[in-house]
Amino acid sequence: LANKQLKLLLIGLGTVGQGLIRILLEKGSHLIETHGIEFKVVGVCTGSRGNLYHPEGLDLQTLYDSSLNREPFASDITERTTEWLIRNEDADIVVELSPTDLNDGQPAIGYCQAALESGKHVVSGNKGPAALAFTFLSELAKRQGLFFLNEATVLSGTSVFLFAQKSLAGLRINQIKGILNGSTNFILGQMELGHSYSDSIEMAKQLGYLEADPEGDIGGYDAQAKLAILSNILFETPIQLADVKRVGIADISREDVMAARAAGKRWKLIATLSRNGDHIQASVSPECLPEAHPLAQMNGTSNALTFSTDLLGDVTISGPGAGGVETGYAILTDLLIIHEGHNHELKSRTEGH
Ligand SMILES: NC(=O)c1ccc[n+]([C@@H]2O[C@H](COP(=O)([O-])OP(=O)(O)OC[C@H]3O[C@@H](n4cnc5c(N)ncnc54)[C@H](OP(=O)(O)O)[C@@H]3O)[C@@H](O)[C@H]2O)c1
Repeated sequence: LANKQLKLLLIGLGTVGQGLIRILLEKGSHLIETHGIEFKVVGVCTGSRGNLYHPEGLDLQTLYDSSLNREPFASDITERTTEWLIRNEDADIVVELSPTDLNDGQPAIGYCQAALESGKHVVSGNKGPAALAFTFLSELAKRQGLFFLNEATVLSGTSVFLFAQKSLAGLRINQIKGILNGSTNFILGQMELGHSYSDSIEMAKQLGYLEADPEGDIGGYDAQAKLAILSNILFETPIQLADVKRVGIADISREDVMAARAAGKRWKLIATLSRNGDHIQASVSPECLPEAHPLAQMNGTSNALTFSTDLLGDVTISGPGAGGVETGYAILTDLLIIHEGHNHELKSRTEGH
């Protein structure tokens, strides 16, 4: 039996929300056995399918099956608005998975604020809150003694924040450089195979790799937001999106890419964040890298990040940068951090610290 239960309210049940439900269905008993925790989904809010809430928990299999076909919800429907549910219903953690809006970050920023003000932890896969309102939300979380976690926002399920904060603890990271957008990496790879720029974009669209507005990926806006999140969290220095110089891949032609390949090089859309004292420099721009460079070896939609550190030199991590289950896994890692945090607090209290 689980010795603890945490109640989740999910905002958004699209690709990532479904991925998370699948993980909870497949790994629920494993998590009880290995971590002593049961994550119970008590509510789900969507844009067009309505909202659900049941204090005893929703049936995950029914939820998953109905979501695959985008069927209207059949039971546990509530007339309450998303913000009302966040503020008033009994849940421990709000998981924010509504679409990212990089103009004003809404409604996600408002949802995160409502959750934290009403005593609920926030795990967000949505890039808006961490890119545009990180200082405000993280200070609110701190004042409330709550977590505001964002592992899924950069490199999807490949752990970046946990890795840097735990495995690289004590090192000074001077530069973070990487491939933060899988769809543009896929498009450049297709062009190396001889496909035109527009055919490569079409293929990426067909395979579901591009966002609804492809300009977000191709123009470098997605990578720009991820650099801001990296600076906010790992360099603890807030930067504005406008502080990140940005050039997309639109001016790279098939000929450029093929000529580079013939010369033993590869064009990649590279995001770079450097610090010198308190001064931060951030840019997203295509770079022609020698094939032996670790970032040049990323194929398909893979993402990678190289941390340049004082004692270890360069440390590179790579892995999937998108996908429902992959990103759902990043959400799970944050949920487990909250569970461990609770355990720690409980232990400190019972031991009288
Ligand atoms: N997909 C990935 O690989 C990936 C990776 C990393 C991060 N992310 C981020 O994770 C978030 C979720 O991505 P996704 O791929 O799951 O998106 P998605 O498939 O488009 O799903 C979005 C979900 O949000 C719901 N929604 C829309 N407007 C809403 C609103 N105003 N309030 C509450 N819910 C609303 C949608 O409901 P309806 O369908 O009924 O409108 C849908 O259930 C995004 O912010 C994305 O940037 C995604």
